[in-house]
Amino acid sequence: MTIRMLRRLILLFALASLLGACGGTPDSPAGAGVPAAKATRTYKQLVVGFAQIGAESGWRTANTLSIQETAQDLGLELKFADGQQKQENQIAAIRGFIAQKVDIIGVSPIIETGWDTVFNEVKAAGIPLILLDRHAKVPDDLFAAFIGSDFALEGENACKEMARLLNNKGAIVELEGTIGSAPAIDRKTGFHNCLKNYPDMQVLATQSGDFTHAKGKTVMQAFLKSYGNGITALYAHNDDMALGAIEAIEEAGLKPGVDIKIVSVDGVRGAFEAMVAGKLNVTVECNPLLGPQFFETALKLANGEAIDKWVKSEEGIYRQDTAKEALPKRAY
Ligand code: AHR
Repeated sequence: MTIRMLRRLILLFALASLLGACGGTPDSPAGAGVPAAKATRTYKQLVVGFAQIGAESGWRTANTLSIQETAQDLGLELKFADGQQKQENQIAAIRGFIAQKVDIIGVSPIIETGWDTVFNEVKAAGIPLILLDRHAKVPDDLFAAFIGSDFALEGENACKEMARLLNNKGAIVELEGTIGSAPAIDRKTGFHNCLKNYPDMQVLATQSGDFTHAKGKTVMQAFLKSYGNGITALYAHNDDMALGAIEAIEEAGLKPGVDIKIVSVDGVRGAFEAMVAGKLNVTVECNPLLGPQFFETALKLANGEAIDKWVKSEEGIYRQDTAKEALPKRAY
């Protein structure tokens, strides 16, 4: 080997060891003072806290299952808190997630207001916040994304379906969801705004059934007591309340779906069964299977990727004539 060749060899060797010292991979820390390139997170490295509302309806059960099963499938760590229908429990859960330094926090706010303080705490902790299913009345900078339905459009679609069923003329009773919740507010607004186009359709009474089967039945019993045969239709903000109301209507000796037309929202299996039996006329779908979109958005946020501020659900409208065919394919 000549001196020249030897020099070249030494130079190459020196360069290689210099590169090795500066490079650094996610697994091998970089040399002193040189920051390692930020590794892209995977689902398996993600810790997500989710503050659920409770278990008030079939829709909610399907929503919880979708979140838990998707987390399991993806292999991420989910810290799940059941708020048991109380805002203070959801707030306490969010504070717990902050203390545990989770990567992402998700919440389905039971009502629209009262979140500013705790959401500011989440922001101060530097944790991205996702509103899932229900939105909240807070400034836009307090949450990263909202994933869910257009509730006002659901209300408008319910009104149009009702007009078709009633030939634009009738007396409606309305079973409202949880007072102060986004779906109850928007489904009512969407329905009532659309009703302005139908002067011969009036709402006789509106009362909350809190999105539950039991309260839907009790409130419908009260409606029947007050208005009897004067009721030609029922608009229920969810299927569970409609199913409770169907029991009340039958116990009053009337035929649900015939004597009293019924339009509700959600599209749970029980609603399809009621449509097949001719007891419910229409369900406007509200998709609870939000787990995949939730964690996809969470991962993007953890990796600093761009996301949509509103990830909208795609939903259909189901009537009696298509219910039988659709029933076996329903996932919830
Ligand atoms: O927020 C979605 C609503 O909450 C569903 O329509 C209802 O069934 C649930 O309780």
